[in-house]
Amino acid sequence: MVKEDKDYKRYLITSALPYANGPLHIGQIAGAYLTADIYTRYLRLKGKEVIFVCGSDEHGAAITIRAKKDKTTPQEIVGTYHSIIEESFKDFGIEFDIYHRTSSELHHKTASEFFTVLHESGKFEQKTVEQYYDEEHEQFLADRYITGTCPNCDYDAAYGDQCEECGSTLSPRELINPKSTLSGNVPISRETTHWYLPMGDYEEWLKEWILVGHKSDWKANVYGQCKSWIEGGLKSRAMTRDLDWGVPVPLDEAQGKVLYVWLDAPIGYISATKQWAEDNGKNWEDYWKDEDTKLVHFIGKDNIVFHAIIFPILLHAHGEFILPDNVPANEFLNIEGRKVSTSRNWAVWLHEYLEDLPNKQDVLRYVLCSIAPETKDSEFTWKDFQARNNNELVAILGNFINRTLVLTQKYYDGIVPDGDFSSWGDVTGRIQEIPGEIASSVEQFKFREGLAKSMELARLGNQFLAETEPWKLQKTEPEKVQSIMLLALQIAANITIAMRPFLPDTCGKLSKMLNIDIDHWEQAGRLDLVQPGHAMGEISLLFEKLEDEVIDEQIEKLHS
Ligand code: MF3
Ligand code: ZN
Repeated sequence: MVKEDKDYKRYLITSALPYANGPLHIGQIAGAYLTADIYTRYLRLKGKEVIFVCGSDEHGAAITIRAKKDKTTPQEIVGTYHSIIEESFKDFGIEFDIYHRTSSELHHKTASEFFTVLHESGKFEQKTVEQYYDEEHEQFLADRYITGTCPNCDYDAAYGDQCEECGSTLSPRELINPKSTLSGNVPISRETTHWYLPMGDYEEWLKEWILVGHKSDWKANVYGQCKSWIEGGLKSRAMTRDLDWGVPVPLDEAQGKVLYVWLDAPIGYISATKQWAEDNGKNWEDYWKDEDTKLVHFIGKDNIVFHAIIFPILLHAHGEFILPDNVPANEFLNIEGRKVSTSRNWAVWLHEYLEDLPNKQDVLRYVLCSIAPETKDSEFTWKDFQARNNNELVAILGNFINRTLVLTQKYYDGIVPDGDFSSWGDVTGRIQEIPGEIASSVEQFKFREGLAKSMELARLGNQFLAETEPWKLQKTEPEKVQSIMLLALQIAANITIAMRPFLPDTCGKLSKMLNIDIDHWEQAGRLDLVQPGHAMGEISLLFEKLEDEVIDEQIEKLHS
């Protein structure tokens, strides 16, 4: 049975923990962070009890391989990138309640205990198997330590756990012409012992929970991937690795072994919640052990199996935790016609954007939400970015606000006039309807649609002013102009709330200009948000036109 939102007491929202092996690029932002932030801000405005947790994923081959490449240590790598990532999230207005890290002691303890519970209740199978081994580096080769040709699509640089070209999940033995990532050598085989999660044992349970239970409320891309996984048959998966970087396996007979990063990392959501609770005098168990909590994991499509299948199996096997209510995954964002490639530097880096285009975080939020890859891969181009800024943010939203505030300043010295706008029923009717439409879109994870709806308020305002032309009537019909301006001001005030989840910085500025502070979603749609006699604040421009030079520079940077 799918629970309705009203049946939940509180919300726990997570975004995939990014690997601390490099800075963030905008493809990641469009995938798992901006949408989660919009959703959370919306819930907060509705007065819901909600926390939004994230942190750095600091273990796994992604980190150690990067350290090796840079001739440094994993500690150095995560130290550097954890801070850069945390900072750019903040500057971009992604408002986590906590940004934690998996190298913390609390996380190690939490992950270790989780493993112990599963081990002691007999949930793992201990198996000795042959694995690829690099003799030169004296290391077993799992996951990203081994590459080869994908058996499904022939891509020649597939990893031991996943082909990034066709998205299929692999095991090292399936690769054609396997090679060690460390030395480039052809690996040999050696015996090793690991603890496996017998995923096949959970097939029936997953069929019931996902294929029956979440048929109508999970996104089609997520549901489809789960269906093909489950129907393809689930194989046992090792939950431990022969590595020296990670959470040590808490068993005497497992010296030199650590937890599989995909076991440890999602537990990071739990440890982040624990840390937040400790810092804020709250009880973390309310968020993880109470069926009245709605848990939602925002992720990118390459993470679907881990969040919709493997982690839920682990939570279920553990027995004390709730399961995600939804796992909204986005597809990928391509850049200027090509797939993002961090190794080839084909990416727009968030921290560089924030430096090159200061105080324009909302422009990027607007564009990334407008083109979010919600149902299929989508495309970011700098020309489109410029066009959306100039033709939508400047020409529609900025123009409406500026006209309204400048005229109010000019005609009434910044004091809200009195008037009667009841004759514009079409306009007032839409103002009252739009917030409900935005809410419904956001609650269904249709953020593009939600943003478009919120923008409709500005379009409506623009059109209203263009049609009524108050600037032509001020001399002859000043009373009518008062009514026009009062209604325009109500639209502006509605924008501060309806657009706030999407464009928080802009709505903050606009609230200051209007000298109001509306902080509850239920007020959206009202027509008395600014009262006659109220004095506005100082006004300034919300957006500025982006010239070709600025955009050309960014295009050049991408190609350099
Ligand atoms: N670091 C992983 C990635 O970037 C995501 C980890 S999500 C978690 O693909 F749940 F495991 F933390
Ligand atoms: Zn492939």
